[in-house]
Amino acid sequence: MSTIESTPLVPAQGIPPAGRSTAIESMDAYRALVAEAAQDHEAFWARLAREHLTWRRPFTQILNDRDAPFYKWFEDGELNASYNCLDRNLASGNANKTAIIFESDDGRVSTVTYQALYHRVCRLANALRARGVKKGDRVVIYLPMSVEGVVAMQACARIGAPHCVVFGGFSAKSLHERITNVGAVAIITADEQVRAGKTLPLKSIVDEALAMGGTDAVKTVVIYRRTGGRIPWIGGRDAWLHELENDQPDTCEPEWVSAEHPLFVLYTSGSTGAPKGVQHSTGGYLLWAAVTMKWTFDIKPDDVFWCTADIGWITGHTYICYGPTAVGATQVIFEGVPTYPNAGRFWDMIERHKVSIFYTAPTAIRSLIKSAEADRAVHPGSFDLSTLRILGTVGEPINPSAWNWYSEHVGGGKCPVLDTFWQTETGGHMITPLPGVTPLVPGSCTLPLPGIDAAIVDETGNEVPNGQGGVLVIRKPWPSMIRTVWGNPDRFRNGYYPEELGGNLYLAGDGAIRDADTGYFTITGRVDDVLNVSGHRMGTMEIESALSACPLVAEAAVVGRPDETFGEAIVAFVVLKGPRPTGTDVKRIADELRAWVGKEIGPIAKPKEIRFGDAMPKTRSGKVVRRMLRSVAKGEEVSQDTSTVENPQVIAQFADPA
Ligand code: WTA
Repeated sequence: MSTIESTPLVPAQGIPPAGRSTAIESMDAYRALVAEAAQDHEAFWARLAREHLTWRRPFTQILNDRDAPFYKWFEDGELNASYNCLDRNLASGNANKTAIIFESDDGRVSTVTYQALYHRVCRLANALRARGVKKGDRVVIYLPMSVEGVVAMQACARIGAPHCVVFGGFSAKSLHERITNVGAVAIITADEQVRAGKTLPLKSIVDEALAMGGTDAVKTVVIYRRTGGRIPWIGGRDAWLHELENDQPDTCEPEWVSAEHPLFVLYTSGSTGAPKGVQHSTGGYLLWAAVTMKWTFDIKPDDVFWCTADIGWITGHTYICYGPTAVGATQVIFEGVPTYPNAGRFWDMIERHKVSIFYTAPTAIRSLIKSAEADRAVHPGSFDLSTLRILGTVGEPINPSAWNWYSEHVGGGKCPVLDTFWQTETGGHMITPLPGVTPLVPGSCTLPLPGIDAAIVDETGNEVPNGQGGVLVIRKPWPSMIRTVWGNPDRFRNGYYPEELGGNLYLAGDGAIRDADTGYFTITGRVDDVLNVSGHRMGTMEIESALSACPLVAEAAVVGRPDETFGEAIVAFVVLKGPRPTGTDVKRIADELRAWVGKEIGPIAKPKEIRFGDAMPKTRSGKVVRRMLRSVAKGEEVSQDTSTVENPQVIAQFADPA
């Protein structure tokens, strides 16, 4: 790290508001924390856990690694996440502070104070208890972006019921899979969701999922009335959120739980099989949500924080529901999409709400660049964005040209752009610059946060020299890490702590390289069969099995193709049971298959392109030649290396999308 200063870098940008220093104020301060953690990993984390969380019962054990890799942190300590996010703010003088500035799809704005949020959470928590939901029971949340989403998650946390939020873009079938896998006893949903002026019937989708069977444990469906649209109703089971809240007292004794009690399960895609339920703890997870709000985002009492993620993803869990509230921040929550009513929506909202810290996905930036270049009216330069002081990105690699545009046109050249690398499994930021401190390099997430022991290794687990690529691992356990895959501990152990790497390294699933001079990390993308489409994780196998389940389909293979705007595009290669379609049938059947995938998984999984052939190109031993299909998807010439393929003639069919 001593060489950082000697390399030409974008100077550390972004100064905290006049006269104040950042949470970690200098490279020296950063190095001191790294050294503190290196010297005594456990003592370092214990200190943070005592300083940043409020414990009902202080912990005496720090790390328990007896059953590694099933690590436990602060196990005998007791706390409650919603107490830390709500009651603590009332006690510290934030009662009348705005917790949430909510802007609906059609532009209506409402605000909620910490006091009001606390009462709403308590009422719903009481109502859930009254309906028999108790500590350890799982509650599925299928809600649009809303204040109610945060209320629902915090209410579950208050009574010790792990929540399982399902993104509103998932189909009834995907929702059903999650409800049954997690064994939910209650569901919290809305009548309808509104995005870009269009409604989506969430409650009907819940009913459809519950009609698929195996869901008898679900005794309660709570419905937030968003639009007042007509919905099916099942007496005894269904209840309006506002009616439940009306009947309940506005305080609620929290359920004090062990730090290891699961706070939530969130499903994400892996390279094989069905989506896996990533289980997070209460103490370790919340600790990192709070600490990274301070270290990475340098959150200060008068900041207005805005994370544009959906609560259905981990970013919305950590940097909407838990992080901002744990540190008493004011945040913006937005119901809609960045392009409605026009592509200036984000910039307009930053101006109106005086946002100072803005966190979004590279895909959003790239698509807004296109619109801004085409129409000055939606260019960030047409708005007053002078309140911004820190910008962040997450979810996928950001290409240097998008990084530079974001820095220059949104940040006015004065805000640091924090390329934050992390995952559903890591709970919070892992590798990220510190604002105003770390010299920046567009396209690099720079250095690990203190306490995060990241390294790049070869396929046997040996560290590779800087400048040489390999796979990203985290060597030491950290408090906010995934605890297990819900109901499938073997999948956790084998997937994240594989024997090939020695069984003691956390395998992120991403390729990475460290700069030879600076030691900075650059993430080069997934090394497994996980796609990243618009920052959303999708497994190729999931989409393949969805396609194969269609009665028309004999065989399907799915690959990702690099896409300038969306990071990756889904390309499907399909062999039908009937003859290969020709003429207008090609589009008709492709549309039919796309709709099928939409029903099986959700619209986000629909292939951008579907190509048909008489058979799947396979090796003589019968393996689909994916590498070749990836080249075909990119439009590359593959004629020279088809010698290992049993049936090379079908490659030409797939090469021509028409
Ligand atoms: C990718 C999102 C490059 C990576 C928080 C990771 C990134 C996956 C970055 C996790 C980044 C996330 N640069 N790639 N800054 N951040 N990724 O679980 O492939 O939805 O493994 O968590 O997104 O996606 P997930």
